[in-house]
Amino acid sequence: MKNFSVIILAAGLGIRMKSYLPKAMHSLSGKSLVKWVIDSVSPLRPDNIVVVVGYKHEIVEEYLSKSNVNVKFVCQENQFGTAHAVMQAKEILKNYNGNIVVISGDVPLIKTTTISNLIKKNQKSASAVTVLSAEVKDPYGYGRIVRKDGFLEKIVEEKDANLNEKQIKEINSGIYCFDKNLWKALLKVEPNNSKKEYYITDTIAILKQLNHKISVLLAKDEIEIKGINSKLELSQTETLLKNKKIENLLNSGVSIIDVNNVYISYDATIKPDTVIYPGVFIDVGVTIGRNCVLKGSSYIVNSKIDDESIVSYSYVDGATIGKKVKIGPFAHLRPDSVLKENVKIGNFSETKKSFIGKNSKVKHLSYVGDAQIGANVNIGAGTITCNYDGRHKHQTIIEQDVFVGSNANIVAPVKIGKGALIAAGSTITHDVPKGKLAIARARQELKRRIKK
Ligand code: UD1
Ligand code: CA
Repeated sequence: MKNFSVIILAAGLGIRMKSYLPKAMHSLSGKSLVKWVIDSVSPLRPDNIVVVVGYKHEIVEEYLSKSNVNVKFVCQENQFGTAHAVMQAKEILKNYNGNIVVISGDVPLIKTTTISNLIKKNQKSASAVTVLSAEVKDPYGYGRIVRKDGFLEKIVEEKDANLNEKQIKEINSGIYCFDKNLWKALLKVEPNNSKKEYYITDTIAILKQLNHKISVLLAKDEIEIKGINSKLELSQTETLLKNKKIENLLNSGVSIIDVNNVYISYDATIKPDTVIYPGVFIDVGVTIGRNCVLKGSSYIVNSKIDDESIVSYSYVDGATIGKKVKIGPFAHLRPDSVLKENVKIGNFSETKKSFIGKNSKVKHLSYVGDAQIGANVNIGAGTITCNYDGRHKHQTIIEQDVFVGSNANIVAPVKIGKGALIAAGSTITHDVPKGKLAIARARQELKRRIKK
């Protein structure tokens, strides 16, 4: 989309959040509110994205600087209202001729297509401003769209609305598309309201009085324009997102036994016929194939699980799991665990930064870290890859068809050749050539029992 820029208002402290964090930084499904808004506008490739920061601005700036987004910051030292916030972007945009979308940093679910429709409407109708409105069941707290003979007249805030205006169910979403007359209108805004603040919403009536055309676009979906001002609204929005996701998944053929007893992030990809049992928490960055079974209080984040795998009562973070793999109960997969087809990781086993080849098993009470394990390897119960010497991490290589007996300590760096056998209870400190049996433990002695 051409010829427009965006101003995102994110300077507010968010008093109603009752938090030390600036409101824009509160997290919805693992992503800060302001980043949601940036991600909605970015695909339209605006000429500029200006983020107005203020309260604890360094936190917002640092977060966004690390998030690989192309935004400019302006600082609103004191938060004198939404019009005052927009004014701070004047230095950057005063000579800009395109349209300017102003959007609150606390409206995270707004869709890219809706913003693009708003800009199109403003451009096609040659309006000085187009306001995005919505009809909502409960308008409490929002600015109301006041119409006269069907046409937009002004916006009135909840606190300034009279009894009739409070009945109006069409509300202001806090998202507007202006033309360059924005700057002229802002100069005329006065803090004549119960909060004594400079309101961006007052520019609507001002532009109308200046004989400019003003328009409204009614959003189709109430969810999109949900503003978040409190922890209650944040939690409600989380629920809205989750329920929508669950509905989409059910419609696409995923089975969810109890929809009220799972959490599934908005960005999860799950293929049909996978069954999700109560208690499962699927956090961000998860892809799951077909016919998988997820059971018990499993937590899965940033992971990929291929078809027909089973995860039960386990913690899976940053893992890549192949087909027909069985995880748990009570396993812990840590980042960079790569498990190939048919691998089994059993109870109280932990893996980290390790590759485990096809058909291999780590079934009980083991730790596998910084290891390369080939196919068809059996790691006996209680085996530990001793990867850390207190200063550095070292690699363990176990080639295919190795059998490691129970309770072995494999002290890295070390390599165990193809088909070798490690006797139970061994502490392996040297490489084991292929096909050998290594026994590294004290011999059993038999002595006479002295009775008292
Ligand atoms: C605002 C609108 C209201 C609309 C609602 C939609 C005004 C006066 N009211 O109300 O009509 O229905 O959004 O969600 O605009 N901010 C600053 N600097 C300030 C004040 C606010 O950057 O000095 C930022 C906030 O961080 C926030 C956004 O502007 O991201 C909106 O402010 P907020 O206080 O949440 O306004 P609402 O009362 O929700
Ligand atoms: Ca708000």
